[in-house]
Amino acid sequence: MTDTSQATLSPTKRAGSRKVFIKTYGCQMNVYDSQRMGDALADGGYVATETMEDADLVLLNTCHIREKAAEKIYSELGRIRKLKAERAEAGKDMQVAVAGCVAQAEGAEIIARAPVVDLVVGPQTYHRLPQALARVAKGERVIDTDYAVEDKFSHLPHSQPAQLRARGVTAFLTVQEGCDKFCTFCVVPYTRGAEVSRPLARILEEARRLAEAGVREVTLLGQNVNAWHGEDAAGRSIGLGALLYALAEIPGLTRLRYTTSHPRDMDDALIAAHRDLPAVMPYLHLPVQSGSDAILKAMNRRHTADDYLRLVDRIRVARPDIAMSGDFIVGFPGESDADFAATMRLIEAVGYASAFSFKYSPRPGTPGAELPGHVDEPVKAERLARLQDLLRRQQQAFSEGLIGRSLSILIEKPGRRPGQVVGRSPYLQPVVMPESAGAVGDIVTARIVDSVASSLMAEGASETRGALTGGVVAA
Ligand code: SAH
Ligand code: SF4
Ligand code: F3S
Repeated sequence: MTDTSQATLSPTKRAGSRKVFIKTYGCQMNVYDSQRMGDALADGGYVATETMEDADLVLLNTCHIREKAAEKIYSELGRIRKLKAERAEAGKDMQVAVAGCVAQAEGAEIIARAPVVDLVVGPQTYHRLPQALARVAKGERVIDTDYAVEDKFSHLPHSQPAQLRARGVTAFLTVQEGCDKFCTFCVVPYTRGAEVSRPLARILEEARRLAEAGVREVTLLGQNVNAWHGEDAAGRSIGLGALLYALAEIPGLTRLRYTTSHPRDMDDALIAAHRDLPAVMPYLHLPVQSGSDAILKAMNRRHTADDYLRLVDRIRVARPDIAMSGDFIVGFPGESDADFAATMRLIEAVGYASAFSFKYSPRPGTPGAELPGHVDEPVKAERLARLQDLLRRQQQAFSEGLIGRSLSILIEKPGRRPGQVVGRSPYLQPVVMPESAGAVGDIVTARIVDSVASSLMAEGASETRGALTGGVVAA
């Protein structure tokens, strides 16, 4: 921990143990950031609470990716305003902080629209949270959304082993932030700033700490994770593939994943890591957004549908059992029926094991919002329904194809029903198993006997799950 943060944490420490309620919206990067903000606050004497009513500090870590995501924050702030008034009547204070991508995008506007907010802190400045809260405690309203020049991670306290253990046997680790791709629909380059990679040594150090705390599976995070680059000990420039080789050496780290990748940055070394490293899970989230070259061009994706299909072929040659996942946007400005049909053809050609799909949401300040040819809402809705139906059928076919096969499962937590545990397949599906299968943190081999909704059932799970029939077990 740095001297700066120690000095500025003391005012909160003097105030005794205060309770913080953190609510996270958006992507996995925000989940990771919330954990790190939690670390910074724990260091300043805060303890986490699961109930907002009890909180001395409410922290919303927000997402700006689509209009709905941003609007959710304001309705939540409306509820918080009432809570804060109730607490004030009981003679108790409540500080309200907005962090994350809405904070970065809207800054002072948030306080103008929701005066209940005391503090607005951006994704690149949250290492200064303790200082900012000390100013709030003196009655100031604080907006801290500069793109900090210093690396926030080197100013944050490390997560304590006990905190890491409490978070479980899987963990996120941010290795890269920001984006220089400027897809015309996307706010990320504006909310998260320019692409920056964390240095190799720091990543390895954090990964070792995770492994020592019992973490078995690490998911490397970045808005463009495969744009990660660094230098090895000999000063040679390396990419994400080499980082995976280095992480695979760490004792205890048995499973590695990374997300989210851009097709343009899938290089040979990264594909080779999928071929050579058993620790790299055979699952790849590789968004394509559209299957129409005209729309891909208007989106500034800088690849064609054919580039993407050839890339998927190369990845499948390296790792034949890889499960593909993707993101799709329907109704981007100018999208015709023929463009949409091209997206459906691409989905048919790839065959996705899972996917996320969205109606285009024009975002203020992005070039896409200024384009002509906005698609009517009912057309967007109809296209999304057809696309999701196809993706759902593919996902189901993929899961059903695993029935009868034995998979390696990392047991993550107790199940919802007594006598069960829940793990994950290499392909990221939850797997329900009997607790006799092993303990949390074990990686076991289990035969899949059924697929129910988005989960798989392993042999023996039927003992505690009445719905499973003998016929399915025999399949
Ligand atoms: N960095 C990742 C994902 C960023 S955001 C990538 O390069 O693909 C996650 C997903 O949200 C995107 O892949 C996209 O499908 C969707 N998305 C982003 N902006 C959007 C918008 N304006 N409207 C609808 N969906 C959007
Ligand atoms: Fe957004 Fe495109 Fe960057 Fe992904 S690559 S974060 S979609 S601008
Ligand atoms: Fe949302 Fe920001 Fe993530 S806009 S998707 S929280 S990078």
